[in-house]
Amino acid sequence: MTNLNPQIPEAIFNFPDNFLWGTATSSYQNEGNNHNSNWSEWENISGKIINGEKSGLACDWWSGKWKEDFNRAESTYQNAHRFSVEWSRIQPEENRWDEDAIEHYRQMLRGLIERGMTPLITLHHFTEPYWFSEMGGWENSESFSYFGKYVHKVVEALKDYCNIWITINEPNVFVTMGFIEGIFPPGKTNLKSAFSVITNLVKGHAKAYELIHQLQQNAQVGTATNYRPFLPLKKWNPLDHAISKIIDQNFNQSFNNAISNGKLNFALKKQIISKAKKTQDFIGINYYTTDMIQFNLLRYKNLFSEMSWPLNSDLSENKFIANVPSGMTSAIHWARKFNKPIYVTENGIEDSNDLLRPSYMIEHLLNIWRTTNYIVPIKGYFYWTLVDNFEWERGWTQRFGLWGLDISTQLRIRRKSVDLYSEICRTNSISTSIIQNYAPRIVESVLPT
Ligand code: BGC
Repeated sequence: MTNLNPQIPEAIFNFPDNFLWGTATSSYQNEGNNHNSNWSEWENISGKIINGEKSGLACDWWSGKWKEDFNRAESTYQNAHRFSVEWSRIQPEENRWDEDAIEHYRQMLRGLIERGMTPLITLHHFTEPYWFSEMGGWENSESFSYFGKYVHKVVEALKDYCNIWITINEPNVFVTMGFIEGIFPPGKTNLKSAFSVITNLVKGHAKAYELIHQLQQNAQVGTATNYRPFLPLKKWNPLDHAISKIIDQNFNQSFNNAISNGKLNFALKKQIISKAKKTQDFIGINYYTTDMIQFNLLRYKNLFSEMSWPLNSDLSENKFIANVPSGMTSAIHWARKFNKPIYVTENGIEDSNDLLRPSYMIEHLLNIWRTTNYIVPIKGYFYWTLVDNFEWERGWTQRFGLWGLDISTQLRIRRKSVDLYSEICRTNSISTSIIQNYAPRIVESVLPT
């Protein structure tokens, strides 16, 4: 790659040796043909998914397309991949395990290893078996032991191929969307339910942590937290500060504090869960965007808060994400206080025409690079996502993939971000030339002059 403007000296931002470069995916969003989970039921209720869209074949991974997508990842120098296994396939009924489904995941893991890629497995990524939700899902006080049985089965079966486990993806989003905002199943808006769900998720994580370490000596177990800075809109206004702090406590702090010190503090309620103390070996950060918070007396349903995007930030195609790279630095500072290795387990933007993605990716990675230079132990970065996938209640309207997907033909469309990310992964660095070639607009703002 050549330096397009010799006036600007060629700088190289190197990442640490053995840094993991990959993408993150999830079973329900990629596999297709999933008919036995809380989400398959939810999709069929009218009004739940935008335009009545369906996950359908998704990226058709269940019939084997994961192979060609893993080839895409490998040939573009990714050396790791994070994916989830689908509880509803592995345990389709309370008393039945599906060994073929387990074998399918074993094949995927072998597929990654053969391609020289390190696997990370997520055990719960928003979806769960229909029978489990019928029993009250995570509101059931025994939910954590059901989860434990499933985790035991999976880890026993797959431990020869993987030792980095994410127990629960974004417990904070799962609770907020399913039990406070009512956008995910079961569609509740009830703080009492939310509190029992988060309590049981903490217990479920702790149970999984204990079991995984019993089964595998060198296991690393953590979660992936959706970290979202909430900044007071008016710096001088104590009410904006107070509300931002409450939202931050609920959303960003509660779960990881509980699995660090055994004390859950959520929605102004507290609970001691001693077994959860010190049950994380790494911190997974999913960082996408940042919100500004303003106190508003009329918005009692939203904790008296009104959210807006930071002034002058670039917005994604559907205005779902504001490009605020400084939030990545805040997320890393938050994670650092736990004194554990850190993985950026998700970061990405919806952008079908790849207009903003290259600069979004470079700017976020440069902030990661800066913190690694202050000796923060960041071990890897997982872009969300490899190929456009089913985006939950937003259906197919949002395109987060490096590769685009034509859902009617299953054809993959190579976006220019594929080449950008490939250059970064291949060289384990970001250089002036990469920035000039892929995001010339930000050259002056990101490079020292
Ligand atoms: C979730 C993914 C989702 C992504 C983009 C994350 O919060 O973990 O499942 O697709 O956001 O919407």
